[in-house]
Amino acid sequence: MSLVEQIEQLKLEVASTQLNSADEVEAFRVKYLGRKGILNDLFEAFKAIPNEEKKAVGAVMNGLKTSVQEKIDEGSLQFKSNKGDVEVPDFTRPYGEWSHGSRHPLQLVREEILSIFERMGFSVEDGPEIEDDWHVFSGLNFSPEHPARDMQDTFFVEGQPDTVLRTHTSSVQVRVMETTKPPIRIVMPGRVYRNEAISSRAHCQFHQIEGLYIDEGVSFADMKQVLQMFTEAFFGKAKIRLRPSYFPFTEPSAEMDVYWGLETPADHRITKGTGWLEIMGCGMVDPNVLAASGIDSEKYSGFAFGMGIERIAMLRYGVDDLRHFFENDMRFLSQFKKTI
Ligand code: DAH
Repeated sequence: MSLVEQIEQLKLEVASTQLNSADEVEAFRVKYLGRKGILNDLFEAFKAIPNEEKKAVGAVMNGLKTSVQEKIDEGSLQFKSNKGDVEVPDFTRPYGEWSHGSRHPLQLVREEILSIFERMGFSVEDGPEIEDDWHVFSGLNFSPEHPARDMQDTFFVEGQPDTVLRTHTSSVQVRVMETTKPPIRIVMPGRVYRNEAISSRAHCQFHQIEGLYIDEGVSFADMKQVLQMFTEAFFGKAKIRLRPSYFPFTEPSAEMDVYWGLETPADHRITKGTGWLEIMGCGMVDPNVLAASGIDSEKYSGFAFGMGIERIAMLRYGVDDLRHFFENDMRFLSQFKKTI
């Protein structure tokens, strides 16, 4: 019998083979495809035939190999699935943990603060980060030589001495007062820039939320009440105090402290043993500031306040280093997953 005839014979055999169990499938595989199997023997014989016959014989051999493989595949599917070896997915099973991204802690705190003020009737306003001197300083009662300008190390745009990166969100107050008639009741979140290269820990960029309330007959007591309500809503702490301070744009000016308590060692550490924490600057809007933006300072009065979001986020989440907020380390950020 020629090699081709032998192969054809084998093909018929394969075709008529009945495989009735996983063991039979395995035995069949070994018989044909094993190291000492039929196909290897045929391959040895194939090597010996004249070159001109190789193409034709090779084709028949491949045909055999394919039908052997098909038989095996068919058999394994049939018997394995009967034994439960092939995992059939349960499409009705509920999906497990869905891996959400996480919100940035500064974003969470920003939204919470804004929503507290929104509930008190404030609306949110926005303004540019690249500003002119007027909105950042002059319009807020900083005279050209005012030493208070030195309180904030300003980034200037090269070649344009009038253009700065805003050093505080108070600049947005001026923009809104210029274009809006009182009553004005707004909060203004945003990024601010200061050239503070004093240490490697210093950051040239951070976030603030500014507030402004202008109407007829607005008093210092109104300010205290609003800030008290905010502190209670955000920190769950009711005791605040206002310490005299100085800002060019408010008169009188104050710093607001919250009584944090002295219950834990951490309380002692963060309040430096006093129990009090400074939260924001505030004050009654200086009449010069109202007048500079075209608001009648005889008729209207108001208060303003400003706070740093990073500082408040550090208190809220017990973060001890500002750099965590900017490094985008997943180990830090993913801790805020559950707070979505
Ligand atoms: N602009 C001040 C700062 O950046 C914060 C501030 C203090 C804002 C008192 C105010 C205010 O509106 O009344 O340090």
